[in-house]
Amino acid sequence: MDEIRAEEIIRARLSENRYQHSRRVAMVAREMARTFGLDETKAGLAGIVHDYAKGMPGYELLSIAREHDLLEDEVEEKSPDLLHATVGAFLLSRDHGLDDEEVLNAVRSHTLGRVGMTDLEKVLFLADLIEPGRDFPGIERLRCLAMRNLDQGMVQAIDLTLRYCMDQGRLIHPRTVLVRNNLLSSLPSDRTLW
Ligand SMILES: [Fe+2]
Ligand SMILES: [Fe+2]
Repeated sequence: MDEIRAEEIIRARLSENRYQHSRRVAMVAREMARTFGLDETKAGLAGIVHDYAKGMPGYELLSIAREHDLLEDEVEEKSPDLLHATVGAFLLSRDHGLDDEEVLNAVRSHTLGRVGMTDLEKVLFLADLIEPGRDFPGIERLRCLAMRNLDQGMVQAIDLTLRYCMDQGRLIHPRTVLVRNNLLSSLPSDRTLW
């Protein structure tokens, strides 16, 4: 699947707002890929398709996840929107023949992260949060960090996400905590460098 075909698929499937979000994520993901010496084409493609299953009703996401053994934690049963990443990757592969595992992994891990994420996965995760249409407290610092150091950007992004979930009284997915711990332990302990 090339990016032009992907844009057609996403435009036909998502609302105009989500389509525009996807294009902005693709743009930022390409820019980040260029900065970090990654494959810009894969980054752009991952950006365009990442929210393929966004907006599907929770019961449908759950039913696909149950049928194809994609459930990982009971939090997903209570917050099925989290499944749009995993289910999206599954549907892109099954229904559209997307077979690039690196791109599929990036789609799969774009909401919760993954222990052992590749740089392409980190780029998509961060581009989704810092694209120019986003605005939340702390975004400018996150934009700076993300363009400088993917791991530091990831930890900052996860911290902001965890704080938001707690403020909103939302459930925390255990994988997010594992990913944060894993990233933190790989970073230099001197936080003044951040
Ligand atoms: Fe998403
Ligand atoms: Fe998104």
